[in-house]
Amino acid sequence: MLQDLKLLKNQAVKDIKIVKNLKDLDGLFKKYLGKKGQITLILRSLKNLSKIKRAKIGKAANELKDFLKTELNKKAQNIESKAKKKTKKGEWIDVTLPGKRIKIGHLHPITQARREAENIFQFLGFSVIDGPEIETEWYNFDALNIPKDHPARDLWDTLYLKEGLLLRTHTSPVQIRFMEKNQPPLRIIVPGRTFRYESTDASHEVNFYQIEGLMVDEKGKVTIANYKAIIREFLERFFGKPAQIRLRPGYFPFTVISFEMDVSCPICNQKGCPACENSGWIELMGAGMVHPNVFKHSGLNPQKWQGFAFGMGLERLTMIKHKIKDIRFFYNNDIRFLKQF
Ligand code: PHE
Repeated sequence: MLQDLKLLKNQAVKDIKIVKNLKDLDGLFKKYLGKKGQITLILRSLKNLSKIKRAKIGKAANELKDFLKTELNKKAQNIESKAKKKTKKGEWIDVTLPGKRIKIGHLHPITQARREAENIFQFLGFSVIDGPEIETEWYNFDALNIPKDHPARDLWDTLYLKEGLLLRTHTSPVQIRFMEKNQPPLRIIVPGRTFRYESTDASHEVNFYQIEGLMVDEKGKVTIANYKAIIREFLERFFGKPAQIRLRPGYFPFTVISFEMDVSCPICNQKGCPACENSGWIELMGAGMVHPNVFKHSGLNPQKWQGFAFGMGLERLTMIKHKIKDIRFFYNNDIRFLKQF
């Protein structure tokens, strides 16, 4: 029997040596010390032995039991600490590595340009005014001296809604709305969304933004010279470089005289480039002196007041500033385009 215990001990020591994980170790515990484990069985069979043998073998068996218990515990600790070391190695953090930058969004390039333009005009004494995107024919056309059936209406391809309503084709109706409620002298700009029923291409969108401008004072006080000075100041601040401007005759029913305004090409500095078609000039806005009928329709006396108005495309301004070739980029929501600004 003592011999058996010796063999058992040798076998157990071998088993414990090769075991690699806690689960197998648990198996060994059961094999030797569990309810039906080999040592347990030996201890149970002691009662069948003589007193002297029982004492001798019992002692040896108990010693073996204690020995195996400590060996198994040691091995368990050993396996655990090895596992811990391994994960520690895997999770080791190099605090000197540069961190991952969190991606944060920003304002759309059109919004950025609108805010910049607003800031510049506010600096020049203009208030920023809002108006409705859904308009009546009166405000969008009639009050602006564009009577029904007048061919000039064809200039604006209109998206009509029900009950005589429409999506405004320009921000000019806000001129009327503002002058109905406010006496001159006044200086306002109206940045806002406008709509036209037309096919899209590199420079046309159904939905786009305009900035309307209106400055009115007593007769003789606000002239084209004021217009030129203010617009030039605006453009130099907006593009961040000196600007020349040039007026060409134009036609708008709500201004007399009317003109188109060109700016010296800020992309090539008038050396010639595709954006200005090698002319050195880029057409930027329509403008003119407010038509007497526009004052009349706003409830103001055209004999008393005089002023200028202008309207420019915000996308166009932004495209020139950032050298963007196609207006449709602004509304594709392509993150690769947007994240450049
Ligand atoms: N409303 C005109 C347009 O959309 C621009 C304009 C505004 C022209 C004010 C003259 C004066 O084309």
